[in-house]
Amino acid sequence: MTKQDALNKLQPYDQTHLLRFYDDLTERQQERLLSQIEQLDLSVLDQLHTEAEAKRGEFEPLGALTQTEITENEKYFRGVGLSAIRAGKVACVLLAGGQGSRLGFEHPKGMYNVGITKELYIFECLFRNLMDVTEEAGSFVHLMIMTSESNDEETRAFLEENHYFGYSKEYVHFFVQEMAPVIDSDHHILMTAPDQIAMSPNGNGGWFSSMNRAGLLRLIAREGIEWLNVFAVDNVLQRMADPVFVGATIDSKCTCGGKAVAKADPQERVGVLCLEDGKPSIVEYYEMTDAMIHQREPDGTLSYNYGVILNYLFRTDKLMDSLSRKLPLHMAHKQVAHIDEKGNMVNPEEPNAYKFETLVLDMIHMQESCLAYEVVREKEFAPIKNKTGVDSVESARALLEKNGVVL
Ligand code: UTP
Repeated sequence: MTKQDALNKLQPYDQTHLLRFYDDLTERQQERLLSQIEQLDLSVLDQLHTEAEAKRGEFEPLGALTQTEITENEKYFRGVGLSAIRAGKVACVLLAGGQGSRLGFEHPKGMYNVGITKELYIFECLFRNLMDVTEEAGSFVHLMIMTSESNDEETRAFLEENHYFGYSKEYVHFFVQEMAPVIDSDHHILMTAPDQIAMSPNGNGGWFSSMNRAGLLRLIAREGIEWLNVFAVDNVLQRMADPVFVGATIDSKCTCGGKAVAKADPQERVGVLCLEDGKPSIVEYYEMTDAMIHQREPDGTLSYNYGVILNYLFRTDKLMDSLSRKLPLHMAHKQVAHIDEKGNMVNPEEPNAYKFETLVLDMIHMQESCLAYEVVREKEFAPIKNKTGVDSVESARALLEKNGVVL
């Protein structure tokens, strides 16, 4: 790409400032910048001129398979789940491409050490939890790990160095998600250096299409994998390929399943599993009316009661059917360091920029049906989002200890 080609690409989007420092760059830097512009997908900016958030449909409550019902049928569900796992029909997808900006840790989040008297990395907690299942089943499950361009190398090196915490390397596969440009409030793309465009991972919703691009759907077809269990890196009590969850979802005949926790109180700020125009969906706390928040079922439970914890089971055939469908693009308001028009570094203390993200939770609405599966919060939900306070290293440590994990 020449400078003129770059200008032609940027002009219609009012982004020619990306070439502001071009003439002062070395030849190598110029090439670097032009190559970034060449690869830049500017179509995300078209979204800015359409309606910011898609209109939502009509919401209705969606009941869950409750803890009591699960306990009553646990033996049967476990048997169904273990057979599917042993037959190689279940694989896991770890979403680890995020930047973890709230935690403020400069390495991939999975490398965070939650140990106190010894080292205990987030990745280690997850591998250990998965190995509880593979030991019980007597067979490994394939684990696909999504990274981003910013953390791929470090993640791979760390896991290799730590011998995948005892997991079989043959069953671990990596794939890299796409990046999107970061913009300011005037919709101008930011730069982090005179030859570097500010980019961020494009959210956790693109995992299946990124797996496709990486050629992993061939592995799925070859191995006969029918279910993918997708989960977040930051919940250290996460149970993945959980045989009881797998068995219950298969038994329900639903095309997907979502682990959920009963709300701690009606106002809790969580996305809740529900129906939207008759299809499974997730309604965010800020989208709920007061009436919805307080609505109750005849037995007294909240009608919109089951908050998602980013642990879903999807049927691979249904995911393939929806591969060509576009997910809505969300704009996340974040703090992003960048250079100003004079090339000076700016380190904002408040959110100053917007990142473009698609979200895995929007994939639920593309499914025909979803089993909401209630788990016990104290046993399965210890997210690490912040350094201190709510959903933090501190709260996760307390929950790990409560579950008998030595720190
Ligand atoms: P979060 O929404 O908590 O985002 O991710 P984050 O980037 O990790 O953290 P903050 O918001 O900057 O503090 C939920 C899950 O989705 C993954 C994360 O790694 C985490 O497991 N994720 C998020 C991706 O894999 N890619 C993304 O682009 C964003």
